[in-house]
Amino acid sequence: MLNKRLAGFTPVFVFLLLMVNYIASAQQVKLTSFEPGAIWKDNNGVHINAHGGGILYQKGVYYWYGEHKVEGDAGNRAMVGVHCYSSRDLYNWKDEGIALKVSQDSTSDIAKGCILERPKVVYNKKTRKYVMWFHLELRGQGYKAARTGLAISDKATGPFNFVKSYRPNPGIMPYYPAGTPVSEQLNCKDTKNESETFFCRDLPGGQMARDMTVFVDDDGKAYHIFSSEENATLHIAELNDTYTGHTGKFVRVYPDQATEAPAIFKHNGVYYLIGSGTTGWAPNPARLLSSPSIWGPWTYQGNPCRGDGAKITFGGQSTHILPVAGKKDAFIFMADKWTPKNAIDGRYIWLPIKFEDGTMVIEWKDKWTLADIK
Ligand code: GAL
Repeated sequence: MLNKRLAGFTPVFVFLLLMVNYIASAQQVKLTSFEPGAIWKDNNGVHINAHGGGILYQKGVYYWYGEHKVEGDAGNRAMVGVHCYSSRDLYNWKDEGIALKVSQDSTSDIAKGCILERPKVVYNKKTRKYVMWFHLELRGQGYKAARTGLAISDKATGPFNFVKSYRPNPGIMPYYPAGTPVSEQLNCKDTKNESETFFCRDLPGGQMARDMTVFVDDDGKAYHIFSSEENATLHIAELNDTYTGHTGKFVRVYPDQATEAPAIFKHNGVYYLIGSGTTGWAPNPARLLSSPSIWGPWTYQGNPCRGDGAKITFGGQSTHILPVAGKKDAFIFMADKWTPKNAIDGRYIWLPIKFEDGTMVIEWKDKWTLADIK
């Protein structure tokens, strides 16, 4: 008798239990702050897998693209592709799946097992296409290929179709603003240091393109910024109107100083470029350059980080600088805290950028919100 009565209650009880669980888990993932270096869970409760990433903002939605890492010792090889997440508030991220898949065809440039790093997506208003650029190393060749790769999609979340990979600007000398003395211009008949020698060596086939980002300026022009010349020098290279190729106009920035991990933004007419030194996965001091024009002159401004951990960029390496939509003067410095022994466990260090004494600084925060950005 008692059992019978209980049996009637059981489905109701189970339903209530499930509801409580559902509400609890939904509340668990509702985030209201950033915790740099912590586990960042997506809508499924899984740590976000978008390393070396960048963010595109469109119509109220942020799309975060990054390297999908796998568990264990695959190291940096791309076994899956580029992961995409979306968010309206920057704290809570929805898994949108793999936006660009590596190819199962072993002859493809993006064959599974290649190295596909630092993907960045921009939207082209003319063609209404989403354009993804990334650093590509062909499978089985280590970091020798040093190419840039291009993929295109009709939708922000993909699928992106791989188009081509190559080394930019073959046969083309750098751009120098009018009035630049000839003695300051690179001359392959009289190279002055190792990086110039690398540049001239690569002139016929195109320049090496490794760590990279893409930047769209206020006038709609886009630029590909990458470590070139065996990582010795950064190049800032103009993209064409559809953002799908290089125009051939480019400058060499901070030559021979070995800068990686470029990230860039513009504030009050000044361009700020943050990068790292070249110590692989190990963190090193960030470096800031600024310029009144994308073409330079770029001036080295030292390490923008302040306080404890500043000498190692708080354990991170720059990947992107995000202008916060609808908030004037609000920018987020995004960095990766790499964990090469188990790449999937890599963490994200996002910190607010502060403007001080005519420049910008980054300070550590255990926890912060968008309201903290001034
Ligand atoms: C880093 C670079 C990463 C990755 C790594 C490989 O310096 O920023 O994107 O290429 O080296 O060792």
